Amino acid sequence: MTEPVIQFKNVQKRFGKNIIIPDLSFTINRGEFVTILGSSGSGKTTTLKMVNGLWKPDAGEILINGQKISSLDLVKLRRHMGYVVQQIGLFPHMTIAENIAVVPKMLRWDQEKIEQRVEKLLDLVQLDPQKYAKRYPNQLSGGQQQRIGVARALAVNPPFVLFDEPFGALDALTRIELQKEIKRIHESLADKTFMFVTHDINEALFLGQRVMVMHEGQIEQFATPEEIVTYPATSFVRELLGTVQQNQSLWGNYHD
Ligand SMILES: Nc1ncnc2c1ncn2[C@@H]1O[C@H](COP(=O)(O)OP(=O)(O)OP(=O)(O)O)[C@@H](O)[C@H]1O
Ligand SMILES: [Mg+2]
Repeated sequence: MTEPVIQFKNVQKRFGKNIIIPDLSFTINRGEFVTILGSSGSGKTTTLKMVNGLWKPDAGEILINGQKISSLDLVKLRRHMGYVVQQIGLFPHMTIAENIAVVPKMLRWDQEKIEQRVEKLLDLVQLDPQKYAKRYPNQLSGGQQQRIGVARALAVNPPFVLFDEPFGALDALTRIELQKEIKRIHESLADKTFMFVTHDINEALFLGQRVMVMHEGQIEQFATPEEIVTYPATSFVRELLGTVQQNQSLWGNYHD
C-alpha cells in the first residue's frame, strides 16, 4: 500500500531576490528509496533542508506524515530524520561508540540499552564492534567514518533518513562498496524512507527505486531508473544519460 509521507505542494524557496526553487511539487511514499540527481546549484541540498525544517519555504506547503511541517515541533521532527552528509563531522575527542550514542544519550536512554544499540548499529554497517567501538575517528579510514555517519543517523531508529552526497569524497571502489551497503541496509530495515542526494548518475540509478532529476530548482523527471533510461522526459535528462554513455565509450577506447 502506498502511503505518502513526504509531500511538497507548490513549494517556493528564495534567497534574497533569487528564486532558487520556483514551484516544486512531489510525493514520496513510506519505505521508498528516492535519489535526487542534479547539477551543482540545482537546489538539491535546499530541498533536503526544507524536508527537515532547516529552511522554511517562502510559499507552498510541506507535509510530513500528512501534517503541515509548519505545525510540527522541529526538534522532534529532526529526531525523526537521520541526516548524513559528506563532511560527516564526528566528534574527534569521542570514541566511535560515544559518537554513535550522542542522540540516544540526549534522550536519556539507559547505558545498557545504548551499548546494545551501538553494537547492533556497528554490526549493521559491518564494522566489528570489538575492534571499532573504542577507537577514535582519526583511527578510521574515510569510508569507515562514513559508515559511522550512517550508524549515527540510524541511532534512534528514525523513519526518515536524508543523505546529502555522503560518499562524494570517497574513492571509486570504496564508494561502490558503500552504495551496496546502503542498499542492503535499506532493504533490511522495513519501512524506512530514504532521500539520497547525489550528482553521480550511476549512483542515482543504482540506489533509487525512483530518481528525481532536478535542474534549476525544477523537477525534470521523477521516475524509476528503468523509465528514466528508456524514456528520458527532457533534453536535460537525455544529456545527463549521454554523459554516462560518453564516459563508457571513453573507457572503452582507453582499454582497446
Ligand atoms: N544560504 C544561502 N544563501 C544564499 N543562497 C544560497 C544559500 N544556500 C544555497 N544558495 C543558493 O541556492 C542554489 C541552490 O543551492 P543548493 O545548495 O541547494 O544546490 P545543490 O543542488 O545542493 O548543489 P551542489 O550539488 O553543488 O551541492 C545555489 O545557487 C546556491 O548558491
Ligand atoms: Mg548540495
